[in-house]
Amino acid sequence: MIDRIVNDPEPEDVREVEIEITLRPRDFSSYIGQERLKENLQLAISAAQKREEPLDHILLHGPPGLGKTTMASVIANEMKSQIRVTAGPAIERAGDLASLLTNLSDGDILFIDEIHRLNRTVEEVLYSAMEDFKLDIMLGKGPSAKSLRLDLPRFTIIGATTRAGDLAAPLRDRFGMIHRLEFYTIDEIEQIIKRAAKILNVKIDSAAATELAKRSRLTPRIANRLLKRVRDYADVNGDGFINTELSHKALGLLDIDDLGLDASDRRLLLAIIENYEGGPVGLDTLAALTAEERGTIEDFYEPYLLQIGLLERTPRGRKVTHKAYKHLNKTRPKLDSQSSLL
Ligand SMILES: Nc1ncnc2c1ncn2[C@@H]1O[C@H](COP(=O)(O)OP(=O)(O)O)[C@@H](O)[C@H]1O
Ligand SMILES: [Mg+2]
Repeated sequence: MIDRIVNDPEPEDVREVEIEITLRPRDFSSYIGQERLKENLQLAISAAQKREEPLDHILLHGPPGLGKTTMASVIANEMKSQIRVTAGPAIERAGDLASLLTNLSDGDILFIDEIHRLNRTVEEVLYSAMEDFKLDIMLGKGPSAKSLRLDLPRFTIIGATTRAGDLAAPLRDRFGMIHRLEFYTIDEIEQIIKRAAKILNVKIDSAAATELAKRSRLTPRIANRLLKRVRDYADVNGDGFINTELSHKALGLLDIDDLGLDASDRRLLLAIIENYEGGPVGLDTLAALTAEERGTIEDFYEPYLLQIGLLERTPRGRKVTHKAYKHLNKTRPKLDSQSSLL
């Protein structure tokens, strides 16, 4: 995947990963926004604590960078539980899952990132583990095979995914709570930037924080990254203080426009406008046009473009809106009988 400011940090990019960990809120009071989610979780946590029971399994879904992993660690912290972290693709065989589960203690949390990428056999073992806290394993093969049922500790699974729709229904049904993380407001992003600036010891004025917030795709991860890039620019080209003028120049250099779109976003929208008169275009065609994978388009491009109304999803495919034409300074083709006046 190309290096875009929206991507997850690569595990080998140690510095990037470290900064993300430093900036991660540890409790509900420092976790900005997602008020409804926080309220629901706080209630569930209080109830579980009162009953001295583990939390129900929780599924968190939504676009990358909105705070799913962070929320999982906040929950563990608030529950005073141990958290183990793994990811769907890392659990290759049923045996891998069995060893993860049997090593848990009562009340522990197992965080499974990218849970939509679990394979089928592992998923099936997970069903009964989540439902009855039992582990069914087969010993041996053929007619002499025996099945064995093991008791598991009372644990909580927190699953995270960018694609709730890709989850098999039986798996989805085993989560007691399913929550979608929403894009943040500009105001919330601004608070996140100011918090990060304080932690990283960056001097930024309020107007510049607003400017950064507007271009952060309403996403905390991107806000934090832009802050770091602009700080680098300020250190090299100024006295380290970030004001509007300086942030403007730095963001211009990154080729991020005033809606937070980068060159790849604009290329995608232009591809629909120039080749398909604004659409509708099917996802596969769009993938071919932009030389991106379907999944990349669905996870990284679309959610924000839909959110700010530059793109529309119709039964026949994706369509560019009037607002997108305006943003890109393009004229709309005349013969446009049934299109909405968005
Ligand atoms: N609500 C929030 N308040 C403050 N910072 C946040 C919030 N949500 C996310 N972040 C920041 O954004 C970064 C990315 O969040 P993360 O939880 O890794 O997103 P996801 O798992 O959804 O991709 C974190 O390092 C954290 O610093
Ligand atoms: Mg994550």
